[in-house]
Amino acid sequence: MNHETVPADVDEILISQESVRDVVRQMAARISQDYQGEKILLVGILKGAFIFLADLSRYLTVEHQIDFMSLSSYGATATTAGEVRIIMDLRTYIRGKHVIVVEDIVDTGYTLRYLQQLLEAREPASLRTCVLLSKPDRRQVDLSIDYLGFEIPDRWVVGYGLDYAERHRTLPYIAALKPEVYQED
Ligand code: PRP
Repeated sequence: MNHETVPADVDEILISQESVRDVVRQMAARISQDYQGEKILLVGILKGAFIFLADLSRYLTVEHQIDFMSLSSYGATATTAGEVRIIMDLRTYIRGKHVIVVEDIVDTGYTLRYLQQLLEAREPASLRTCVLLSKPDRRQVDLSIDYLGFEIPDRWVVGYGLDYAERHRTLPYIAALKPEVYQED
């Protein structure tokens, strides 16, 4: 797909490709420093985290493995009901491991809170969270994010893994959609 032209339903680019790259590099540098000499397991939450995790993983200088989980939180109306379902669980046995959950975005916080409770119960050596985007205005539950890329306003964002009705995941930047696009639904 050609990314030279901004799609018609995009209102504005919120975070440029260069800013995303710089911040993901910084996050990887911090993680690499914090876990020096350790081995970590990155848990990517599908689908949205797949590009973020791929880039983060390649910038890390610390030994690591990757695994994925797939969860479902948003209903058909695109509002989060607070109910989270596991669509696909980890293959990895995490007891005694240093685990970092990698998420593209935290909105209400229900998904990440659910994950933290679920994974803590499996007794990892440590459990941290690494999140590219956070919408603090939308938060419904208290959460600690250990590595955060950007705080963003309450707008529907796409690109760098994030979608609108499965579109725009491969845009290289983070963009806000025109409100009329998703308010029509
Ligand atoms: C998004 C995102 C988080 C969740 C955050 O996933 O990747 O997992 O929503 O929302 P919350 O903080 O309100 O719980 P989504 O359900 O859109 O699925 P996708 O990643 O497969 O696109």
